[in-house]
Amino acid sequence: MNTLSQSEMSKLMAAAEQTIDKAYEPYSRYPVGAAVLVDNGKVITGVNVENAAYPSGLCAERVALGSAVSQGHRNIIAIAVYSPKGDISPCGMCRQFISEFGADILLIFQWQGALKQVPIKQLLPFSFDHKMVNA
Ligand code: THU
Repeated sequence: MNTLSQSEMSKLMAAAEQTIDKAYEPYSRYPVGAAVLVDNGKVITGVNVENAAYPSGLCAERVALGSAVSQGHRNIIAIAVYSPKGDISPCGMCRQFISEFGADILLIFQWQGALKQVPIKQLLPFSFDHKMVNA
C-alpha cells in the first residue's frame, strides 16, 4: 500500500487550499477544496458546488474525483480535503464515491491539530462494491 511522505502530503494539501477561492457555497458559507493525486503525479482539484435545491449540491471531493476520471485518470493515489473553517473529513456519500476507485486511496485531512493520512477502507469498512452488484 502507498503512503505519502510528510512533504508529499503537505504539497497535496496546499493544492486543495489554493483552490478554495473557487468554492461555490452561497448557502452554507462553508468552502471546501479537494486535490486528487493520480498515478502519473498529476494533481486535479475541485471545490464544493452548491445549489438552490440543496441536495443537488456537490462536495469538493466528488467534483475533483469526477474531474480526474473525466480526464482519463482512474488510478488514484490520494485525495486531500481542506476547509478554512477547521477540521474536516469526507462525508459518507464521498466515502462511497471514493471507494469505488480503490480501497487503498489515501485521504489526507486536518483533524485535531494533525494532518491525517487514512486509507478509504478504514473510513468506510464493509463497503458496498462492484463485486456485490455483479455477484
Ligand atoms: N462538503 C464538502 O465539500 N466536503 C466534505 O467533505 C464535507 C462537506 C461541503 C458540502 C456543502 O457544500 C458544505 O460542505 C457544507 O456541508
